[in-house]
Parts: sequence; structure tokens; C-alpha cells
Amino acid sequence: MNKDSSDLVMKMIHAHSDQLSNGDPISPPIVTTAKYKLSGTPDTPYTYGRDINPTVEATEAAISALEQAPVVAFPSGMAAITAALMATAKAGDRVLVPSDGYYVTRVLLEEILSGHDIAFDAVPTREIATTDLSPYAIVWLETPSNPGLDLCSIRSIAETAHESGALVVVDNTTLTPLLQRPLDLGADMVVSSDTKAMAGHSDCLYGHVATRDEALFQKVWKWRKVSGTIPDPFASFLVHRGLMTLELRLQRMCETAAILAERLDGQTAIKTLKYPGIGFILGLSFESEAIAERFIDDCPAIFASTSFGGIHTSAERRARWGDQVADGFVRLSVGCEPTEALITAIEATLATL
Ligand SMILES: Cc1ncc(COP(=O)(O)O)c(C=O)c1O
Repeated sequence: MNKDSSDLVMKMIHAHSDQLSNGDPISPPIVTTAKYKLSGTPDTPYTYGRDINPTVEATEAAISALEQAPVVAFPSGMAAITAALMATAKAGDRVLVPSDGYYVTRVLLEEILSGHDIAFDAVPTREIATTDLSPYAIVWLETPSNPGLDLCSIRSIAETAHESGALVVVDNTTLTPLLQRPLDLGADMVVSSDTKAMAGHSDCLYGHVATRDEALFQKVWKWRKVSGTIPDPFASFLVHRGLMTLELRLQRMCETAAILAERLDGQTAIKTLKYPGIGFILGLSFESEAIAERFIDDCPAIFASTSFGGIHTSAERRARWGDQVADGFVRLSVGCEPTEALITAIEATLATL
């Protein structure tokens, strides 16, 4: 983590506590209310629970300190992605999305937004830089792509996309704003599934949209208000608490992932190893589906599950969801277990395959 990130983490940790007076609790209260006292002409932003909630605001303020941008929180990553698209795409628009990115974004475009005359094309992440971007109103990026772990340059694609007036949206779930800040690289909007590393404990769903463009921010905020997709205060509290240790968790996860990538290089059971050099996700390709499943099930240090970014090291074969990866491809999300114990357990299982 560089000095810039340290400053952001300081701001994030203190975003709520710096507002407090003597006697106030340090953690944000979980405020559960549908109504606020409101007599006469409304002279307070606290009008109705679908619009605004103090626990949600505390979590947004913490995320906002990391993004260095206004943030709108949502009850899941997909709710944030839907908001970003609904707030920006209009009938007749074409959207470019990565064919190797999170598949539900493509399902949303293919099965729902196509009915509203919004078209899309899907191109592999590695080919976006050489794709003609002029037909697109929105260019959607995910780098590293999930699950393929390919990379593209946000900065240069944003420059090209802006020449023809396209908006650039980045799904930054896999790296979080501590490891990559797309808004600093020219993106117009960031979306994130905070269900993953941001919340970090695999105990809630959450998401956010961040943008420094006031008009875009207002559209996303309005979408949340009218669609009724404000997050729950309990989940907001959990995400706030998770964020307080984000830097520590990421440090352990990323350091272990880098060491693991080195130690696994050359292991005969693994046909190809993908590690983007940043983050905590590795792609391991085994000879067959059966060997990949045995690796996941037999390794006592791995929790077999979908999703990533939690305390537990977890793994799954992404072909089971129809992702365009080989049957033996395993996405391994490195968790917070002690580094050596984790790597030793993985190496021991690989030796049995
Ligand atoms: C890159 C990416 N974006 C978005 C999502 C959707 O997030 P959620 O499950 O919180 O709706 C996921 C979930 O796996 C994801 O991996």
C-alpha cells in the first residue's frame, strides 16, 4: 500500500469517529426506521427511510473517503450495477462489456435491458484496447477480469472512449479502491460489489456506485430513491465494521497470494497458473474437471464456495456457471489464514493429485 492509500485509509477510519462529541459511541448506531419526525414544511433531509438513513450514510462516508468521490450505496453489487446502467443508458444506446467479466452484468443486458432497446457487444478484456469504441455510449471495464484475470489499461481506453463521447464505467470489485482507483485513471463511474473484500467477512451483500460527476451522481441517487433500493442498516453496519480492517486484510491476502503464486509456479498438477501481479485471486488450471474438484474438496484449508474476497480462502470451478473458461479452471481467492499454514496445506493437496 503506498502513501496515498495510507492517507485514504486514515480518512476512511476516521470519517465517522471525527464527527463525534463527548459521550457518543464510536461505532455508527444501527438506525432502523421507516419514518422521521416531520411536521410542517420539510426542512430536513431525513424525510423517509427509502431516501436516507444515518447508518447507510456512515458507510457511504467511509467508502467515499477511499474513492475520493461521492458514493451511493446499494443492497448488492448487482443493485449497484443495475443503478449505474439504468442511470446512464437510454433507448438506442449500445454498451460494450467484457466477455470475460462478471457474467450477470451480461445477463442483465441480454435478458432485461435488451427489452428497453439497449444493445450490447461483449469483447474479451485483452481486445478492448483495439476495439472501435465509437459505436458505444457506455464502455464497461473490469480489470483484472473476473474470472479470467486478464488486464486492460483503464487510462488509455478511457481516453479513446471519451473522444467519441462514451461514458466509462469500471467494475472495481476485484481490487477495491485501495489497490486501484479507476476515477483517478479517467473513468466516469465506479461500481463495486462490496459483498467481497470491502465487507470482507462473507456475512452480507452490499454494493456501491462512485462518481465525481455531479449530474451522474444525481441520476444514480434518484434511481435508488425511485426503485427503492436503499441498503439495510444492519448490512450497512457490517460493511462499515468490515471496512475498518480492509487494509489489514488486503495486506495479508495480497502478500500470501504473491508468495503462493511463486511457490505454485512449476507444480506439475497445475497446467497453467494465472496471477495478475496484484490482488488476491489466482487462476489455476487443472487437467480436468475431476482433478479440479478433487483439489477444491480435498484441501482442508479451502472453503468450497462461490464468491471471493473473504477471510476464508475459497475456490470454485467457474465453468459450472458457464463462464468461458476451461472445465479444469479454478478461481482461488486467498483469504486471511496464516500464510505458511495455508500454502503448506495447498502444496500437500497438490502433491496427492
Ligand atoms: C466482479 C463482480 N461484480 C459484481 C458482482 C455482483 O455482486 P453481488 O453478488 O454483491 O450482487 C460480482 C459477484 O460475484 C462480481 O464478482
